Amino acid sequence: MWALRCLQGCRQHGIRLGIVTLCLAAAGWTLQTQGKVSLLVSQPHINATVAQNVLLSVAYTCKGRPVIEWKYTSTSGTTKIAKWKPGSYTNISSSYTGRVNIYDNGSLQLLSVNMRDSGYYLVTVVETLGTSMYGTILLNVYEILYEDLHFVAVFFAFLMAVSAILICLMWLCNKSVHLLQKERHQLKASTTEETELQTMGC
Ligand SMILES: *[C@@H]1O[C@H](CO)[C@@H](O)[C@H](O)[C@H]1NC(C)=O
Ligand SMILES: *[C@@H]1O[C@H](CO)[C@@H](O)[C@H](O)[C@H]1NC(C)=O
Ligand SMILES: *[C@@H]1O[C@H](CO)[C@@H](O)[C@H](O)[C@H]1NC(C)=O
Repeated sequence: MWALRCLQGCRQHGIRLGIVTLCLAAAGWTLQTQGKVSLLVSQPHINATVAQNVLLSVAYTCKGRPVIEWKYTSTSGTTKIAKWKPGSYTNISSSYTGRVNIYDNGSLQLLSVNMRDSGYYLVTVVETLGTSMYGTILLNVYEILYEDLHFVAVFFAFLMAVSAILICLMWLCNKSVHLLQKERHQLKASTTEETELQTMGC
C-alpha cells in the first residue's frame, strides 16, 4: 500500500522518481561491491571420528590478499589456532604446531582429531581495506562406535556360521553312526541266518 502510494507520488513528481532511481542504483552498486567480498563455508557442521583428519573447508573472494585467522571456542574458552596471510606469513600457535595444515583459500585441516577437538571453529578473513568476514564451523568428534558395532556384528555372524557348521557335522556324525549300527545289525542278522541255514542243512 505504502509502496503503491509512493510510486504514485513518484509518478506525479518526475524529479522524485529520478531521485528514487538514483538511490536504487546506488543501493545495487553497494550490494554488488559487497558481493565481491564473500566467505563460503561449505560444511557448517562436521561429524568426525577419533584419529580422522578433518578439513574445515572455506573459500573467500576479495580484492588483494586478506589475513585469515582461525580460533577454537568451547566451554573452556577460546584459543587461537593460526593466523596467516597467503604468500606473506604464517603464524601457528604452539599448541597446534604440527597438528594443522593451512591452505591459501583459507581452509584449515586438523590432523588426527580427538574428542577434545569438538567445538566451534571461528574463521575471520580481514581484507586489506579492513572489511571482515566471519564463518563458523561446528565440529563433533565421536568415538569409533560404528566400527565397534560392525565388528560385533561380524563376530556374531562368524559365531553363528561356526555353530551351524558344528550342528551339521554333529547331525552327519549321528546319521552315519546310525547307518553303521544298522549295517552291522543287518550283517549280524544275515550271518546268524546263514549259520542257522547251515545247521539246518547239516
Ligand atoms: C551429525 O550427527 C548428528 C547426530 O549426532 C546428526 O543429527 C547430523 O545430521 C550429523 N551431521 C552430518 C553433517 O553428518
Ligand atoms: C580449499 O583448498 C583445499 C586444498 O587445496 C581443498 O581441499 C578445499 O576443497 C578448498 N576449499 C574450497 C571451499 O574450495
Ligand atoms: C605470531 O604469534 C605470536 C604469539 O601469538 C605473536 O607474538 C607474533 O607477533 C605473531 N607474529 C605475526 C607475524 O603475526
